[in-house]
Amino acid sequence: MSDLGKILVIIPTYNEAENVERIVSRVRASVPAAHVLIADDNSPDGTGRLADDLAAADAQVEVLHRRGKEGLGAAYLAGFHWGLERGYDVLVELDADGSHQPEQLPSLLAALHTADMVKGSRWVRGGSVVNWPQSRKILSLGGNLWTRLMLGIPLKDATGGYNVFRAETLRNIGLDDIASAGYCFQVDLAWRALKAGFKVVEVPITFVEREYGDSKMSQQIVIEALIRTTLWGIAHRARQLRELGRRTGSAPVGEVTR
Ligand code: GDD
Ligand code: MN
Repeated sequence: MSDLGKILVIIPTYNEAENVERIVSRVRASVPAAHVLIADDNSPDGTGRLADDLAAADAQVEVLHRRGKEGLGAAYLAGFHWGLERGYDVLVELDADGSHQPEQLPSLLAALHTADMVKGSRWVRGGSVVNWPQSRKILSLGGNLWTRLMLGIPLKDATGGYNVFRAETLRNIGLDDIASAGYCFQVDLAWRALKAGFKVVEVPITFVEREYGDSKMSQQIVIEALIRTTLWGIAHRARQLRELGRRTGSAPVGEVTR
C-alpha cells in the first residue's frame, strides 16, 4: 500500500510477446507496491500464456483474458471495472511496448497528490518523443491541435495514453457509456474528467517508440478519432451557444425597448 492507497497498473496487450515480461518487471521494480493487470485480447502470438506464467510467479500480477481484439478502449474499460470492483484507489494506463517508461511512474503518481487525473505529456516543456518518424509526430501534434480547437481544453497532449486516475474520478465520469474504441478513448477520458470538474494535470514524459512488435495504429483509428472529436466539439459549441443565449435572453428584453 502506498500513501495514495492501492495502485493498479493496467497494461493492455495485443501481440506483445516480446515485450510483456520486460514491461511487467520494469513496473514491479519502479513501483513495488503497485499491482499489475495485463488485459490481453486473446493475442495470436501467445502473449496471454506468457502473462499467465508471470501471474503464476508473482502474487501482484494478474491477467484478464478477453475474447478477442476489441480495441484499446474496450480493454482498458474492462481493466478499470476489474480494478474498481476490487477496491483499488489509483488506476494507471500503461502501454506494454515500453513507450511509457515505468521509471517515470513515480513522478506521475506524485502529481496525483494534488490532482484527480494525471496525464503523461509529450508536448509540455520537458516532455519528448524518441525514435518517432516525422509523420507520427505531425499526426500527434495535429491531433492535439484539433482537439484543443474543438474542445477548448488547455491540455497539450490530450491523446496521450500514459494516464493515472483516482478511483473516484473514474467512478464519476460515466464509464458505462464510453463508445470510443481506439486511441480517441484517451481524449474521451480527459474530456469527461474536465467536464465533470476534476483537476487534470500534465506531467512531462519521454515517450520511447517501441523496439519490438508493431503499433496497432491504423487509418480506422485516426478516422474514428477525427469524427468523434469533431462531434464532441460541435456538441460543446452548441451547448456554449445555448448558455450564451440563455444568459443574454434572461435580460428583460421588453424593458430595454421601453
Ligand atoms: N487488449 C488490447 N486490445 N490491447 C491493445 C489493442 C487491442 O485491441 N490495441 C492496442 N493494444 C495495446 C498494445 O498492445 C499496447 O500495449 C498498447 O495498447 C498501445 O498500442 P500501440 O499500438 O503500441 O499504440 P501506439 O504506440 O500506436 O499509440 C500510443 O500513443 C497514442 C498517442 O500517440 C498509445 O499510448 C495510444 O493510447 C495513444 O493514444
Ligand atoms: Mn506503442
